[in-house]
Amino acid sequence: MKATTMTDGIYRLGINLENNQLFEGMWPMPDGISINSYVVSGEKTAIIDLTEDVDDKPAQFERELASIPLKATDVDYLIINHMEPDHTSWLPAFYKKNPDLEFFITEKGAGVLKAFCGIDQNIHIVKTGDTLDLGRGKVLTFYEAPNLHWPETMFTYERSSGILFSCDAFGSYGTIEDIIFDDQLSSEQHDFFMREALRYYANIIGGLSMFVSKAVAAIQDLDIKMVAPSHGIVWRENPMAIISAYERFAGYMNGPAEPEITVLWSSMYGNTQKVVSAMVQGVRAQGLPVHIHRVPEDHVGFILESAWKSAGLIIGMPTYEYRMFPPMAWVLDMFGRKKVWNKQVLRFGSFGWSGGAQRELDTLTEKLKWQFVEPVEWQGRPDDEVLAIARSRAEELAKIIKAGS
Ligand SMILES: Cc1cc2nc3c(=O)[nH]c(=O)nc-3n(C[C@H](O)[C@H](O)[C@H](O)COP(=O)(O)O)c2cc1C
Ligand SMILES: [Fe+2]
Ligand SMILES: [Fe+2]
Repeated sequence: MKATTMTDGIYRLGINLENNQLFEGMWPMPDGISINSYVVSGEKTAIIDLTEDVDDKPAQFERELASIPLKATDVDYLIINHMEPDHTSWLPAFYKKNPDLEFFITEKGAGVLKAFCGIDQNIHIVKTGDTLDLGRGKVLTFYEAPNLHWPETMFTYERSSGILFSCDAFGSYGTIEDIIFDDQLSSEQHDFFMREALRYYANIIGGLSMFVSKAVAAIQDLDIKMVAPSHGIVWRENPMAIISAYERFAGYMNGPAEPEITVLWSSMYGNTQKVVSAMVQGVRAQGLPVHIHRVPEDHVGFILESAWKSAGLIIGMPTYEYRMFPPMAWVLDMFGRKKVWNKQVLRFGSFGWSGGAQRELDTLTEKLKWQFVEPVEWQGRPDDEVLAIARSRAEELAKIIKAGS
């Protein structure tokens, strides 16, 4: 692949991580992910964010650089928006090729750069509002964006083109081939990247949602003509589409989220499973969309996407050794870590003798600000009365969500 010209003197290049890997060592990505870098050339040349040192990706990166044409020693400055290794693990090798390289990074970033790459020379510490004039009208301005995604992260804005290089913020899953801009996508492809943005958000950014609105406020006076994140598509036709989407996703943490319900259920011997349909019917009777995940069969990365945007959760699980069914406990623990907060929740499940799942659920979710509808619990297999109660409780939950949306 070749680098793509975004505007005179500004290029996008990047690599794809394929679907046989787990992002951050844990998130499935059935359609992979891109790691984007950008070159801004005036009299001086800067690269914004580097790439990951896996397989033959650095060689591919260098071929793209050569297509501009540039080689490592032609690069004067490396702008390090974010130190996570998906953007920096190739940095030490690149620095060896060009020991004159100068680094622009936040103060917190400099400490992390030393720890991960052993580099403590040629460093320029930057703060919000600092600029770097590359000549020929290209001026970079830096904006600290703490915790999007690490404490050291910043955005870089190029004034003449109005391009915001936002690193992980405004990113999405999904590999990138020849098409890099939103206006080159079909409606289906556009929807795909928006969906992948939500899943990426729920997996990577969700637990840091409180920092999204702060970062957006810091850049609100900028004339943003393109949003160029380090993962996914470049938003040029409507750059506000992805910024607004991220603000909407962040808002789901404090609720209410979308008037939809995610049903997540587990069952060992089918007694809890028998009630799933009644729950779904109850929700549909009120006309709300339903997302269904079986635990542990579905990966928590996908469950998080559904749960993050749903105002309501219906959690089905039996009691297991006086407590919650362990795979569901693991998913709910992840909900806590990722701040799946402020949900309307209904739990159902079978028990054999004295139960216990509900008690543990109540304790575990105390900090999540969840509002519970009365649970549906029964001993052994469910009879028609249980099914009728289940349908009506699910409908009750759906009504609460409709009233709150
Ligand atoms: C390994 C195991 C541990 C269980 N522990 C409890 C328990 O502590 N308390 C209880 O009331 N029932 C317990 N049960 C019974 C189940 O909750 C009961 O069989 C229930 O109907 C299972 O629902 P399911 O068919 O949806 O898996 C246990 C069952 C198994 C297999
Ligand atoms: Fe990151
Ligand atoms: Fe990243």
